[in-house]
Amino acid sequence: MTTTEQSEYHNETILNEFHLQSKIGNGSFSTVYKASEIRSGEIFAVKRFSDTSEYYFEREILINLPYHKNVIYIGRPYEISQNYLVLVYMDETLHDFIKRKKVLNLDEQLSISAQLASGLCHCHDNYIIHRDVTVTNVLINAIGEVRLCDFGCAYKPWMGFSAAGAPYTRAPEYLLDKCLKPEFCMDMWSYGCVIVDLFVNGETEWYDFLPDGNYRNIAKTISTKGFLTIQHNRHPIIEMTLQIDPSKRATANEVVRYIESIQ
Ligand SMILES: Nc1ncnc2c1ncn2[C@@H]1O[C@H](COP(=O)(O)OP(=O)(O)OP(=O)(O)O)[C@@H](O)[C@H]1O
Ligand SMILES: [Mg+2]
Repeated sequence: MTTTEQSEYHNETILNEFHLQSKIGNGSFSTVYKASEIRSGEIFAVKRFSDTSEYYFEREILINLPYHKNVIYIGRPYEISQNYLVLVYMDETLHDFIKRKKVLNLDEQLSISAQLASGLCHCHDNYIIHRDVTVTNVLINAIGEVRLCDFGCAYKPWMGFSAAGAPYTRAPEYLLDKCLKPEFCMDMWSYGCVIVDLFVNGETEWYDFLPDGNYRNIAKTISTKGFLTIQHNRHPIIEMTLQIDPSKRATANEVVRYIESIQ
C-alpha cells in the first residue's frame, strides 16, 4: 500500500464494521478494497458497486452457488442492500502472480491449471457459464490456492444474453458471431488463454493483436493460422482447450481428469 492510499482510506469505515485499507481493484461497475473487520481484525475484499443491478446480479450468482474451494465466496453475508459484497480476501491476481514470479515451475503450472479447471467445472455443474475467464479474474493466495472471481458477466440458462467478457480471451466463434447463445465451451477457450499465459509466463502473443482493435480480424487470424504462433511450451492442456472447433474443445471435467492422470 502506498502512503497516498494509506492516507486516502485511513479511518474510513464502511457498513459500520470494516476499516478500508487500500484500493485493490477498479472495474467498470465496482471498486474493490482490502478491508479489515473491526471486531475480528480479519481481512476481506470488499467490492463496492456503483450500479445496484450489477450488485444484485453478482450477489444472486454467488449466494446460489454452493461452496467450492476454487471459487470466490461471500465471507460475510449482508442482507441489507448497500451495494457491497464482502468477499474472502486473496493476495493477488494470477496476472500479478505470473508477472512477479516470472518463471513458474511445472508443479506450480499444473497446480494452478488443475484448480482453475476444478473451479470452472463446479460452475458448469451448477449451470453457470462464467464468460470472463481471464488472468485478472483468477486470484491466488500465499499458499497457492486459486479462486475464480468476478461473476459480473456470468450466464445462467434462463437469462438473456449479449456479448460479454474480455475480447482477447473470447472464443473465436463468439468473436465472429456475437449472437451465439452462451455455451460452457466458451469458458474453456478462455481457460486455454489463461493457461497459455501461465506456460509462457505472461508473454502471451495475443496482446499484440490488440492495437488493431478489430476483434473480428483477431478471430479470423486465429481461425486461419491456428492459435497464433506459440511453438514452445505447447502443453497438452493448451492443445485440448484452444480448439477452434468448439465440439473438439475439452470440457472442464476432462481437463481435471487429464491433469490428475499426469500428476
Ligand atoms: N476477493 C478478492 N481478493 C483480492 N482481490 C480481489 C478480490 N476480488 C477482486 N479483487 C481485485 O479487484 C479486481 C476487480 O475485481 P472484479 O474483477 O471482481 O471486479 P469488476 O468490477 O468486475 O472488474 P473488471 O470490470 O475490471 O473485471 C480484481 O481483478 C482483483 O485485482
Ligand atoms: Mg474482473
